[in-house]
Amino acid sequence: MKTSEIFEIYSQHVCKPKASFFEQLNLKMVQGKRYGIYIEMLEGLREDDPPLKLIDCHTSGGVKNLGSHHPEIDKALTDGLKAGLDIGDHHLISEQRALLGKELATLLPGDISKTMFSVGGGEAIDLSIKLARGYTKRSQIISADKAYHGVTGFALGACSKSFREPFHWNLTDFKHVPFGNIDILHKSITEETAAVIFETIPATGGILIPEKGYFSEIRETCNETGTIMIIDEVQTGLGRTGQLWGIHGGVYPDEKIVPDIIVLAKGMSAGVYPLSTTSYKPFLEEVFEEDPFLHISTTGGSELGCFVTRKMLEIISEPSFLKHVQEMGNLFQKGLLEIKEKSEKIIDVRGRGLMWGIEFEDELFSLFFTLSMIKNGVFCDYCGNFKQVNKFLPPLIIQPEEIQIILNKIEEGLSNLG
Ligand SMILES: Cc1ncc(COP(=O)(O)O)c(C=O)c1O
Repeated sequence: MKTSEIFEIYSQHVCKPKASFFEQLNLKMVQGKRYGIYIEMLEGLREDDPPLKLIDCHTSGGVKNLGSHHPEIDKALTDGLKAGLDIGDHHLISEQRALLGKELATLLPGDISKTMFSVGGGEAIDLSIKLARGYTKRSQIISADKAYHGVTGFALGACSKSFREPFHWNLTDFKHVPFGNIDILHKSITEETAAVIFETIPATGGILIPEKGYFSEIRETCNETGTIMIIDEVQTGLGRTGQLWGIHGGVYPDEKIVPDIIVLAKGMSAGVYPLSTTSYKPFLEEVFEEDPFLHISTTGGSELGCFVTRKMLEIISEPSFLKHVQEMGNLFQKGLLEIKEKSEKIIDVRGRGLMWGIEFEDELFSLFFTLSMIKNGVFCDYCGNFKQVNKFLPPLIIQPEEIQIILNKIEEGLSNLG
């Protein structure tokens, strides 16, 4: 089908405002073939242009950690189907869920050894908050004021105002604090607080790196007040920071914190089968003692999805895999810092591993930079809650020469915009 036809149908039957958004930016493009680190559009942006081919630095926030159609993942999906796997029945005991739970217990920090399964990140965050409230019998939740944790009930409550207010979703039990400010946090956590929930590096919030010691202090305060510490590793987990977990050495190598709950999604799908997890310390299991059917997800933890996810975990837990992410991250960081030295438009460059943000002097520049990058072959975007920051999350399988291409295109983008 032609791009213009798809836009027409999409406008009529899916979401007109979204189609109009892209049209107004002269980005009339529809995703086509994707493979490795690339995502191709069905057509070029101008008539007679060849199909637009982009290096995927968006990766849907890490869904495409292994790039698109990694051969071992595609094989696991077809092998799983051939072996008779499907969603399974959510009431019954499942071998695939048992095996994935066991595998996660070996990889997650400390004694986080129990896992429940959902379909998307928001649902898994909801469960983490339910666990904290069910266990502590308290209702207050503290999160960051620029946070994004998903669009479902409790998750939305923990998000920034911008996502909540249009839906009049101002739950009085949900308090929001500036990320990184330990004094305010100390004053906010009390013996009424059920949980604190933070991303280790807020992605939508602007790729913020807290000062060293921030998470250790949170851990201590949670211990003192009996508050549950929830860490959202939906974007930072699974190797993104050059370590398996942002909270366990990924932000600061010698700061290895064990929260009470870790939530994973996006990359858990390996790009092909939606799956998310809420992993927790055994003491929290008490919540399900009386009724093990208290929290269910019919299609969460599909047996086929678990099978694929185990293959993804096998790939990323190879020591050579994380070493590769660290090396590529170092290359990217070095290049970005060199570009920053030469550009007056850049205020800051920050990140870890293969998760980087470039902060520009204003939002408009950031928007034009995004457009210029897309037109020039790199798919990146700006952070929804801190729009003057552009973020780059390339696939973790990226190679040095591809990093160099991205860096060259960033330089070109900056010089095109003067
Ligand atoms: C940090 C973080 N947490 C949670 C979510 C929600 O995940 P999902 O869109 O799968 O519900 C997102 C999605 O962007 C996210 O970035």
